[in-house]
Amino acid sequence: MHNAITPPDFRLPPEQVPETIVEQLAGEERDECLRRIKHLLRERDAVMVAHYYTDPDLQLLADETGGHVSDSLDMARFGHESDASTLVVCGVRFMGETAKILNPEKRVLMPDLHADCSLDIGCPIDEFNSFCNSYPDRSVVVYANTSAAVKARADWMVTSGSAVDVIRHLAEKGEKIIWAPDKYLGEYVQAQSGADMVLWQGSCIVHEEFKGRELAELRKKHPRARVLVHPESPAPVIAQADVVGSTTGIIKAATELDSDVFIVATDRGIFYKMQQAAPDKTFMEAPTAGRGATCKSCAHCPWMAMNSLTKLQETLRSGANEIFVDEDIIERARIPIERLLNFAAQRKQVIYGNSDA
Ligand code: 13P
Ligand code: SF4
Repeated sequence: MHNAITPPDFRLPPEQVPETIVEQLAGEERDECLRRIKHLLRERDAVMVAHYYTDPDLQLLADETGGHVSDSLDMARFGHESDASTLVVCGVRFMGETAKILNPEKRVLMPDLHADCSLDIGCPIDEFNSFCNSYPDRSVVVYANTSAAVKARADWMVTSGSAVDVIRHLAEKGEKIIWAPDKYLGEYVQAQSGADMVLWQGSCIVHEEFKGRELAELRKKHPRARVLVHPESPAPVIAQADVVGSTTGIIKAATELDSDVFIVATDRGIFYKMQQAAPDKTFMEAPTAGRGATCKSCAHCPWMAMNSLTKLQETLRSGANEIFVDEDIIERARIPIERLLNFAAQRKQVIYGNSDA
């Protein structure tokens, strides 16, 4: 008989959340930095892989230099397919690690190795291991936003778009689930699939700040607006969504839905691509409580904001900030990631990072 344990609350105290500092380069200085980065990318045989939440200048550079802007898993996939020997991952650390796990022969650099994620920080391997050991009869399913070591402890890695399908598939086989780390995404998946799940209690400090009551008020003021929500958001926000989806899923919905006004509950970095994809449409941020109240990040991830043009240039120049993952961890962490890719391929689904398949 094993004693099941309640996972500790690993939410980051506000004082440990860094300030969101956005670099402001303009004019000559910006142009010169862009020019140097383009030159260094060619010289170092490097390609940029950037997330939708990063600075528009980084997304622009990635697009203009044969790189890729996308969601988390698709970033890794692109890196795998590219011929470049160096990948420069502009995003957060788990994205760099996933790129390395799938491309161990390549050099993976990041503009800032401190670019973390509250979900990843909130799921330390030792505590997670003990949690898993207390439920030996359950399959371990982890979200992409975890460290390489946590993935190495898992049976499956999933993205938000694939999570419901994978969990449903496991539940149909009679499997019971350990889910980590995002409790909101876990609750959403549980409600959709009806699976027997125990949930780790992590959360995203950006999405957690979206407020259900204020969203309802904003919807009253804009009755024609459609609501697009990333599933890392709390249930009262998800309940008001017209579409719940990953970053890729949200952009797709903005182009496909028959509406010209949208309220968007995810990091505002995504607006750059949404505006490119649907230039005639209007996008509004879903409400947070604001800086004066509880919210420190206010719809912009402080760790994503650590990716700046200046740091990218310096990383390419010096070769610093390389991602290393132990060989043993790479071997084990590949298994749950490839399980997801095979599952998707068998179902002939395209699985985006955390997206609607
Ligand atoms: P996506 O994979 O949907 O882009 O999400 C990554 C993420 O960190 C969301 O907060
Ligand atoms: Fe992590 Fe949230 Fe930032 Fe995404 S937005 S990287 S989940 S802290």
